[in-house]
Amino acid sequence: MAKLAQLKSLFLEQFGGKESDISFFQAPGRVNLIGEHTDYNGGSVFPAALTFGTTLLVSPREDGKLLFASTNFPITREIATGSLAFDEADDWTNYPKGIVWELAQRGIPLSRGYNFLYHGEIPNGAGLSSSASIEVVTAFALLTLEGRETDTVEISLWSQHAENEFVGVKCGIMDQFAVANGKKDHAILLDCDTLRYELVPFRTGDNKLVIGNTNKRRGLVDSKYNERRSQCEQAVRDLRQAFPELQLLGQLTLPQYRENEGLIQDETVRRRARHVVEEIDRVSRSMEVLKQGDLAAFGQLMNASHDSLRDLYEVTGDELDAMVSAAREVPGVLGSRMTGAGFGGCTISLVHGDSVDRFIEEVGKKYESATGLHPDFYVCDIGDGVRQLKEEA
Ligand code: GLA
Repeated sequence: MAKLAQLKSLFLEQFGGKESDISFFQAPGRVNLIGEHTDYNGGSVFPAALTFGTTLLVSPREDGKLLFASTNFPITREIATGSLAFDEADDWTNYPKGIVWELAQRGIPLSRGYNFLYHGEIPNGAGLSSSASIEVVTAFALLTLEGRETDTVEISLWSQHAENEFVGVKCGIMDQFAVANGKKDHAILLDCDTLRYELVPFRTGDNKLVIGNTNKRRGLVDSKYNERRSQCEQAVRDLRQAFPELQLLGQLTLPQYRENEGLIQDETVRRRARHVVEEIDRVSRSMEVLKQGDLAAFGQLMNASHDSLRDLYEVTGDELDAMVSAAREVPGVLGSRMTGAGFGGCTISLVHGDSVDRFIEEVGKKYESATGLHPDFYVCDIGDGVRQLKEEA
């Protein structure tokens, strides 16, 4: 991580002002261990916060303006708090703007202006929730500096709402929730219908979690994502013949679903629904095997999750499939799957510590020769959710 002292110098160069007026905040990225495309279906997910993310430096200004800058992108913006609208040309600054808009909607208009400097360590467009990280860190910082309560569950909901309504991406709650509520060495078992959650110690023993970035641009991801969402809604409408009150696929048990699957008219829609209900079941089986410390069984569930995302939900694509199959050929790999929305982005693999170097070398070579793309790998630890930093940290 760039040292806070370095970021502080950059901040003062950009905005001027007094050192003592700067506050520091950080929010992580996230990786989902299992439970994919279940959140917007009211199912459960099992994500974890990463040890890297977005650092935000903020200072107040008396002229009511909002000035946004980033160490990652050349685009900077100066915006009057009263004129907040989504604008494609504003690029990444739409995320923090969305948060200021959201707070105003909730009756928390800002009492003054602010200077913001963002420093992101999450590779962009990799599906590790760089946008959720920006949203959550902005919401947490502004609530803190405005002297308001910082309830991290509320912050996740507000950030998701800003992304849905201001940015226009119809994501579920998983990303913002993990970024806001993560805890070092724990994964979060979250029921996305009730928002009940449990921090589960995630002990990998002699194994490591390795993220593989396909570096495949996630083209069309939003339109395909929204198409999957509407297919799930269609499945719910068909299943209402048997369950008139049904709102979300995640409210059905696997046996209930299996008995009534025939009510879903369209064969593609039926496969989408089957993925969702079986994936939710895999999350609960994961909890059982992890309680017993059976990481090999968890690895098998990760594999089954990927295969279902490939064959039933059809959100993997050649690059993710190539990386996962190369990973599974390496001895010492317990399981490997795509993580996040799919259509590019990253895989997550559980790999024996002694095999990590070989994994990176062999998967890298095979993936590159299969796709022509150069991958990146990150051996990852699980970190904390959003927080304020002390400068000397
Ligand atoms: C993206 C969305 C999440 C979730 C995942 C798929 O990351 O932002 O809400 O739906 O895809 O599990």
